[in-house]
Amino acid sequence: MTRVLRTRAELRAALADTPRPIGLVPTMGWLHEGHRSLMRRAREADATTVVTIFVNPRQFGDPADLAKYPRSEARDLAICEEERVDLVWAPPVEEVYPPGFDTTVSVGQVASPLEGSARPGHFDGVATVVAILFALVGAEHAYFGQKDAQQVMVIRQMARDLALPTAVIACPTVREPDGLALSSRNVHLTAEQRAAAPVLHRALAAGREAWEHGERSAATIRERMRAVLAGEPLADVDYVSVADGRTLRELDTIDGPALLSLAVRFGPTRLIDNEVLEVDPTEA
Ligand code: PAF
Repeated sequence: MTRVLRTRAELRAALADTPRPIGLVPTMGWLHEGHRSLMRRAREADATTVVTIFVNPRQFGDPADLAKYPRSEARDLAICEEERVDLVWAPPVEEVYPPGFDTTVSVGQVASPLEGSARPGHFDGVATVVAILFALVGAEHAYFGQKDAQQVMVIRQMARDLALPTAVIACPTVREPDGLALSSRNVHLTAEQRAAAPVLHRALAAGREAWEHGERSAATIRERMRAVLAGEPLADVDYVSVADGRTLRELDTIDGPALLSLAVRFGPTRLIDNEVLEVDPTEA
């Protein structure tokens, strides 16, 4: 039976005698199959699974974006129950940011390009809330979706720099059969936009294919991805990136691990996706 907790004090009390290791799945709710896969990973590896549901106002630049973020706690709790989550922490804003709260956790280089430059302040909000969650839960493991690849890198950097003992585990992106990465934002797509949205995955697949055939020019791979996106009239491209997989600096030549990533708008809905290019050890 899943226990639902609201305050920091309730969470601390519930965690005091819970079996370890603890696996933490931080979420903003509107749970989908991607979140379920994180919960299952936690259940496999950890004795206690903790899910947090908190739509974090600090990571939204645009108040309209925050207001329209989909929410349904009853539905989310039913999913946690089905996945046999032990504890859900679903706090009101003042339990996360009590009156007088005045700290921001700000990560450097890996937080600045891509989503960092498209959404100023976003990663400060993410790093700040995740630092609070890590401190409150004290989990051995925390699970995040690889769909938000830069977020995973930012959180890893933050946890390493602040000597937080929680290991950050990235789990594979869960996709619809047509390749669209699951995201809470997909609910905002019209039927036409939904039909167009798998173009992100097709563009990334074209980039990977070029790389697998030996292409090492980042400009050429960006061009291949842009060409696929250009074939979809509803896709309004925000960025197409071929970046160093460790620093996220844009590359000229792919000579090590790289991250292909995209942000594309369909009307007001902005979707992101990525593909990791790992290096064959015999090539590096
Ligand atoms: O990925 C998310 O849902 C959020 O950014 C996170 C990690 C729960 C922080 O609010």
